[in-house]
Amino acid sequence: MNDSAPAATPTLAAPKGYFLEHATWVHHWTDRLFSFRCTRNPSFRFTSGQFAMIGLVVEGKPLVRAYSMVSPAWEEQLEFLSIKVPDGPLTSRLQHLAVGDAVLIGQKPVGTLVPENLLPGRNLWLLATGTGLAPFMSLIRDPDIYDRYDRIILAHTTRQVRELAYRDYIARELPDHELLGEMVRAKLTYLPAVTREPFPLRGRITTRLETGAAEREAGVAALDPAHDRVMICGSEAMNADCKTLLEARGFTEGNNAEPGTYVVEKAFVTK
Ligand code: A2P
Repeated sequence: MNDSAPAATPTLAAPKGYFLEHATWVHHWTDRLFSFRCTRNPSFRFTSGQFAMIGLVVEGKPLVRAYSMVSPAWEEQLEFLSIKVPDGPLTSRLQHLAVGDAVLIGQKPVGTLVPENLLPGRNLWLLATGTGLAPFMSLIRDPDIYDRYDRIILAHTTRQVRELAYRDYIARELPDHELLGEMVRAKLTYLPAVTREPFPLRGRITTRLETGAAEREAGVAALDPAHDRVMICGSEAMNADCKTLLEARGFTEGNNAEPGTYVVEKAFVTK
């Protein structure tokens, strides 16, 4: 055998428990934040708001992290939002993803940010910081959520304006969406806010809820467990502070075993 012959390119087989998909679109929001889409195996089923293990084959093995689906359950392709950490085992590689590259999708989506985990209510607050927006991008494009609530208030807070991923899409495109536009215009209130730059809405969501500013921004009455429901998705600290604030007002946490008046999940990918 000739040693200088080029090695045959191995055909990548999907590791057990994963679908092997291909990237179809990549968009970099900032040097620390990007989104990508990939093909979806028709047998991959999930509920809008859930997450799955997503990643790459590295040295022959799956290297995966939990990622919430940004895309709604009905969408043909899958979309994800990710940070980029220079020395993060997965994101340092995933950030170089190009159209056509292989992506692993874990076959068992799970998660608590699903409508079934909340008791019926009037207003649904979706509180996100950073990439915690991802599951709510899925939910605000699922007609089911508009059937369940009179108002949906999406409060996304980031440090800087340019980190408000999907801002144009939510503010400009979604209200004109062919299928969802009417529901969105009637029921969705979007509250983009930043904490470290001038912007019309400023300050942490916790502070804005404590002072009543968030309710004024949304044009609704003060948070009340009698008719408001809340989903939280952010950093550990943000989740903890939101929980404290809500529980002081009588909200109770729901989960897959028992519905409550709020649910929480951390915005996963940090490495
Ligand atoms: P701040 O700029 O005041 O820290 P990060 O990128 O650190 O996850 O932050 C994303 C957003 O979440 C920022 O606007 C940040 O505000 C805010 N944030 C960080 N910690 C908390 C917290 N404990 N409660 C509410 N918001 C928080």
